[in-house]
Amino acid sequence: MTMHIPEETVDEIRQSNDIVDVIGEYVTLKKQGKNFFGLCPFHGEKTPSFSVTQDKQIFHCFGCGKGGNVFTFLMEIEGFTFYQAVQHLADKKGLSLPEGFQQQQAQGISNEEQMNLKAYEWLTKLYHHLLRHTKEGKQAYQYLLQRGFTDEMIKKFQLGYSPQSRDVIVRFLDKKGFHSQHMVNAGVLTTNDQNQTTDRFRGRVMFPIRNHLGKNVAFGGRTITDQEPKYLNSPESNLFQKGKLLFNFDLARSSIRKNRQAILFEGYMDVISAFQAGITNGVATLGTSITESQARLLNRYADTIIVCYDGDKAGINASYKAARLLHHIGSNVKVTAIPEGLDPDSYIVKYGTDRFQHEIIDASYTYISFLMEYFKKDYNLKLEGDRIQYIEKVIDELALINRPMEREYYAKELATEYELSIETIIQEISNRRKKLGSHQDKHRATSHTKNKPIFKRKSKLLPAFHNAEKQLLTYMLHDVFIAEKVQESLGASFNIDMHKIIVTHLYAFYEEGHDANISQFIERIDNKEIKNHIIELAMETVHSDVSDKEIQDYIRIIKAEHGDKATIRQLQEEQKKAEVQKDFVKAAQIGMEILEIQKKIKNANH
Ligand code: GTP
Ligand code: MN
Repeated sequence: MTMHIPEETVDEIRQSNDIVDVIGEYVTLKKQGKNFFGLCPFHGEKTPSFSVTQDKQIFHCFGCGKGGNVFTFLMEIEGFTFYQAVQHLADKKGLSLPEGFQQQQAQGISNEEQMNLKAYEWLTKLYHHLLRHTKEGKQAYQYLLQRGFTDEMIKKFQLGYSPQSRDVIVRFLDKKGFHSQHMVNAGVLTTNDQNQTTDRFRGRVMFPIRNHLGKNVAFGGRTITDQEPKYLNSPESNLFQKGKLLFNFDLARSSIRKNRQAILFEGYMDVISAFQAGITNGVATLGTSITESQARLLNRYADTIIVCYDGDKAGINASYKAARLLHHIGSNVKVTAIPEGLDPDSYIVKYGTDRFQHEIIDASYTYISFLMEYFKKDYNLKLEGDRIQYIEKVIDELALINRPMEREYYAKELATEYELSIETIIQEISNRRKKLGSHQDKHRATSHTKNKPIFKRKSKLLPAFHNAEKQLLTYMLHDVFIAEKVQESLGASFNIDMHKIIVTHLYAFYEEGHDANISQFIERIDNKEIKNHIIELAMETVHSDVSDKEIQDYIRIIKAEHGDKATIRQLQEEQKKAEVQKDFVKAAQIGMEILEIQKKIKNANH
């Protein structure tokens, strides 16, 4: 995109779209004084901290700090580029962009492709109509109802029916003026042995496949009569690249962004079933394994990606592949365990939404726990030889984890399960890490020095223990493992009262089985002061590979502060006693001691 839209066009479009109206379509806004307030669409919250200022035409969230103008808002919420946001608002007001820009917007979309988009749009409507309102479509409609889909979902996803006929679609498209050869290329018609053009999808339930902007670019057709193949998909084309698109991404995007979590399914049915159950952050690949491009796309929007595949062998193997790839590109991956013989859709139908949410999604395995389970399938753990091989294999994986906390956590788990000493496992891990080569070591060395200044960076006037508490809390907010560690050795014994309150809430949050998720965590805190404190802490930088030593240092500093404080309190008591007994020499001596300790603390802190 080299060409710029003229400044005055952008201004005109901005001026003709009041930010309050535009945002009002996504957020319920209430006027309060000069501003409008609502619940921030970018982070979960229960009390409104999202404000829109009409005279300045800007928005700002006091909770998450996001802010901007009407274009920024659309870019954030819809994932638009700047150009798309401008175009979207222009369309809304019936304004048109300059000629050159429009062509550029089309971005290499040829006339033929634009025609295809039109054809998909017509066909979606036709198939849907046939399903809902004709005798022919009745069986397919019944089929969907019997599989548990509601009319609302059938409408939302524009599910349809392609009639069991040779040329209904051929004739329809012809009447609409589409060239039949183009429609063969577009993958909605085919040519048979006798060189006749015929319908491609026949007697199938039709799933329109939308691209990420919500435009239909293909169809998946599922048989309702056990025809082969079970699913017939449109062929690949410029508009429909299976390795790049994700089914339902356009609808799921805002929910994925908001929750920082996406659920990856295998099938269209699973996505729609979950959507119907209120789980709106689900997407699926298009009948192929997940590609790196799809994985990266999800990773841009979500911190956590839950792989939710079928409970059969193929599903578990596919989960392994997907989880590996997602982990490799840096996602926090989780993997669900659906009982054998079921898939997400049939699980929901059989057991309902609540159980799906709690027993499948919330109970999903972490990446390493999943691997630990997955590797078991290759071994008979009753045999000692197999057991050793299995443990070796797990240790190989553990050695690849960069965060020491996490490594130790799983090492402990392995040690407990197989009655080994944790020291041995840690030693094995460290041997492997040494062997892993200089690259990793170099990386660790630099990140370690990068971590070092944390102690020096103590904010201006705060004493060291205060900084240690803040830093430690920041890590605990980002990492369950660290929080667990601190809970074990320090409990809620922080020195600052506000910190005591926060850790107490945090321990409770984690004990309920939640993962580190700051926006989710602050949702439960009603008190604004506490909430802001948490947000402030959460804004501090964290290093993903913070070392165990660093954490231990923080803990030590915090404990030392306790110790000194307790000593001073005790000495003060004794001093009082001495004064009462009129032993002024002793009282003065004690006073000196107290001063010494206070001096020591001061020195340690500065
Ligand atoms: P139901 O069996 O109706 O519940 O659908 P499903 O989505 O659960 O199907 P399944 O788990 O068998 O397959 C998952 C996904 O793989 C489907 O949604 C399709 O995208 C794809 N798929 C399944 N079967 C075929 C096939 O025969 N051909 C092609 N091209 N894709 C298929
Ligand atoms: Mn299924």
